[in-house]
Amino acid sequence: MNQIQHFSHDSEELAIVWQDASQSRLQAIWLRDHCQMPASRNPRNGQRLLNITDIPHDLGIDRVSLEDSRLVIEFTPDGHRSEFDLDWLYENCYCLNRQHDDRSEISKILWSGDSFEQGLPRYAYDAFCAQPRSRCAALQAVRDYGFVLLDAVPCEEGQVLKVIEQFGYVRETNYGPLFEVRTRVDPNNLAFTNLGLGCHLDNPYRDPVPGLQLLHCLESSTAGGESILQDGFMAARILRDENPEHFALLSQNWINFRFRDESTDLRSRVPFIETNDLGTVVKVRFNNRSIDTINLPPAVIRPFYAAYRHYAEILEREALQIVFKLQPGELMLFDNTRILHARRAYSAEGSRHLQGAYSDLDGLYSSLRALEADS
Ligand code: OGA
Ligand code: ZN
Repeated sequence: MNQIQHFSHDSEELAIVWQDASQSRLQAIWLRDHCQMPASRNPRNGQRLLNITDIPHDLGIDRVSLEDSRLVIEFTPDGHRSEFDLDWLYENCYCLNRQHDDRSEISKILWSGDSFEQGLPRYAYDAFCAQPRSRCAALQAVRDYGFVLLDAVPCEEGQVLKVIEQFGYVRETNYGPLFEVRTRVDPNNLAFTNLGLGCHLDNPYRDPVPGLQLLHCLESSTAGGESILQDGFMAARILRDENPEHFALLSQNWINFRFRDESTDLRSRVPFIETNDLGTVVKVRFNNRSIDTINLPPAVIRPFYAAYRHYAEILEREALQIVFKLQPGELMLFDNTRILHARRAYSAEGSRHLQGAYSDLDGLYSSLRALEADS
């Protein structure tokens, strides 16, 4: 439990020195807006009842006192009284806590080809379903490394959708609830041929992009067809280290992606590298097949292409890649805003059949937080 060594205030600000010597300086408006009392928050669901416009323009701190483990603040001009639990204040204080962003590169474990000498993150599917601890660890791997492999997933058609039900919701698309990855006559997508596919993220032409992708291997008796994964956040970090201007060009210039067939015309305008308000990477995109006409200001075209080529060259570095061959019953689940995947070409002899599906990251993160809270 947190204790206070000392506190003082004026009308605008409350200053706290905590037991561990850390310091908070909290503005009156923030304190009033974060009031936890029943008049300000619904006690049942914690949702905020007041609007920012309900707070007086001339709000000030009138009096502050410490009562047990609660800090009591009285405000002027309306005499409103707020009681703050000290643990809550410490945990939520904007001076002491990093801005919350569990999607960004700063919250992740970035990796390259030699990072998994102890083995890839891999869990047995029956334990994933039956044991919350195992499911929690597998979902943590998706959060931290961006991917996980599940073993011994029953080789049944449609099983990939049942896997999603364990942690979230299916994101249905024009390909249907799931898509068949096998060689087709007259394919509407190069994925449905036996050609190799360069490293990419799926569906950048969708906005919002599906945050999660699953590929479940049902058959694999062809030569070739190995899977390749790599960490797009690591590639973006390398790009920024090697040439900050190239990084800026790819995060500041948005480009067009498109997918089209007889009944579909999907378009987006989004950056290769998406950063948040702190300038840290939160999403990457890359898909050679579906970049539409690049349409940027004339002066940007040359530098943009230099940056684009540099980024693509980093993505071709084998040192960043892990390579493995999916066997029947194996499934990979990965963050489609971070992890690039590729497939080597495979022979026309034998058969290869994967079923793929999409889901969204928010459902997975929500399930993971619930599992972590229970453990
Ligand atoms: C895809 C894809 C990879 C594979 O369908 O999006 O990348 O291994 N497939 O066939
Ligand atoms: Zn793909």
